[in-house]
This record gives sequence, C-alpha cells and structure tokens, in this order.
Amino acid sequence: MRGGAGAGKTVLLRADMDALPMQELNDVPYKSLTPGAMHACGHDAHTAMLLGVARLLGERRDEIRGTVKFAFQPAEESEGGAQPMIEAGVMDDPRVDAAFGVHIGQDLPVGTIGVSAGPTNAASDGFVATIRGKGGHAARPHGCVDPIVIAAQCVVALQTLVSREVNPLRQAVITVGAIHAGTVSNIIPEEAVMRATVRTFDEEVRRGWPSASRR
Ligand code: NI
Repeated sequence: MRGGAGAGKTVLLRADMDALPMQELNDVPYKSLTPGAMHACGHDAHTAMLLGVARLLGERRDEIRGTVKFAFQPAEESEGGAQPMIEAGVMDDPRVDAAFGVHIGQDLPVGTIGVSAGPTNAASDGFVATIRGKGGHAARPHGCVDPIVIAAQCVVALQTLVSREVNPLRQAVITVGAIHAGTVSNIIPEEAVMRATVRTFDEEVRRGWPSASRR
C-alpha cells in the first residue's frame, strides 16, 4: 500500500498463516472448520491481526509517507516460509527498509507486548530418521533387530547432544515429536520412523553443531 503523504521508507508487516496437522478438540467459536487442521500455534490470530492493521492503515492512507507491505507467509515451521517469498521478490520493488513480525504467546498476560534484543524466536530445522531393523515375532526377539528399541535409545541419546555437546551458555532444543512403528503388540516391525525438530538461536550452533559449540 503506497501512502498518500509522499515518498518515504518501505515497511513490511508480516503474519504467518499456516495451520498444524492436528484435529481441533477445543469447543470455541473460532475453532477450525477443517478436519485434521488446526491453528494451534495462533496463526489465525496473526492473519486476523494483519488484516485488521491493513484496514486501519488503509483508512489513514492519506497520512502515511512511504509504503507499507503486508506479507502473509505460509509455512512458519516447515519447508518454505520466508525464503521462497524473499526469492520471489517480496523484499524488492520497492526495497523494504524494515520488517516487523509478531507471534502471540501464552507466557505474557493479555495486552502485554514482549520485545527483546537479538533473536526472539529460534531457527527451526528438522530431520526424519528411518531405522530399518529386522521384523519378526515378538516372542523371538533374538532373531530380530528391533527398530523400536533402537528408536527409544536414539531419543534418549539425542537429548545428550544438547546437555553434553552444546555450550551451556548457548541454547538448543531437540524434540522428537513423532515416532511411528509397528501395528500390534506381538510383532516386531521392520522399521521405525522418527521425526524431530531442532531449534537454535545461534547460527554457529545451528551450522557447526557440535564442533563449533565446543569452545
Ligand atoms: Ni507459530
């Protein structure tokens, strides 16, 4: 939106708008109407907030110098997100001088805004690990390679990357958020699949982990 009060800087306001792949169990007026998808992270609020800002600023357009861009960003926490939008030119023509984004949070009382120097939200990386074992009858484990036991060991061992490898003055989180394996109690399955997310505030920890974090 180009302001009507002359040339000026360009500001980008950004809201993420993606939902999460889970069923909404809340019974609230604004609950999800789409089975299997839920705005559990609050991005429906972000979208509504940015639409509200666009309306308010639009009503006062004549008083604004410069340009305001409104960016509705998909995929905050998964593939895509900001990078494809930047590559598609969202920061260009006119060139963005400053960008602002917010994320609602339950840690603060309603009406409070939290601001901090430096990064506020962690980088989000992830991985999928498939553990291939050797399936068989649950009563004959010695003839199998049990991928569920291996996955359980991996989940515990992954936590020691944070507690033993990362500099205690820096932050990192590894969460295995999904494990899928097996169908019944008396069969050892062929494989187990783990899906994990890795959160870091520090690019060195993110890129060089664990070697760069040994200092
Ligand atoms: Ni979010």
